[in-house]
Amino acid sequence: MDRGARERAHPAGLGRRATPPRECRLGGALQDDRVIGFASYDDFRDAAKWPGYRFTVEHTIHVHHVHQDHQDHQGVGVGGVLLDALIERALEAGKHSMIGAVDGDNAGSIRFHERHGFAVVGRLPELGFKFGRWLDHVLMQRMHV
Ligand SMILES: CC(C)(COP(=O)(O)OP(=O)(O)OC[C@H]1O[C@@H](n2cnc3c(N)ncnc32)[C@H](O)[C@@H]1OP(=O)(O)O)[C@@H](O)C(=O)NCCC(=O)NCCS
Repeated sequence: MDRGARERAHPAGLGRRATPPRECRLGGALQDDRVIGFASYDDFRDAAKWPGYRFTVEHTIHVHHVHQDHQDHQGVGVGGVLLDALIERALEAGKHSMIGAVDGDNAGSIRFHERHGFAVVGRLPELGFKFGRWLDHVLMQRMHV
């Protein structure tokens, strides 16, 4: 990744990674100089090794539930702004589709992604284990045609 691309990948001035990832795009939401959410994407699979995957990315997005200020930042539009910006980046980069992996119990997150053009395309049972129980993995995809 060239220096310019790396700068664009950190629009909110988030700390740089020592080794920049291959295709990462990262954005953060700030409030009073504190990060209250971030969204990023990377290759779905290592496109340097398997170039057939070069048009597919997997994203992650998180908005802090309760910050040091004890404010709940979820549900007030921060995630929507971040995801819209990330989708815009992916479109500009010529990505054909985006994949999101959501905890199967997280109905709110599934609804959030659906509202942003993602559809459930798969459910992988008991892929994760947290808080003493198994969690399904719901794969959601947004096609860019
Ligand atoms: C999913 C997430 C990114 C949404 O961000 P957000 O800033 O809360 O979303 P917005 O305010 O833009 O949109 C609100 C919508 O998000 C959904 N949502 C998910 N969790 C929510 C919460 N705790 N409070 C309110 N809305 C929530 C709802 O569907 C809501 O839509 P509705 O008004 O129809 O009910 C955020 O709730 C989050 O970080 N969740 C935990 C991590 C996660 O699930 N990441 C996705 C894996 S890739």
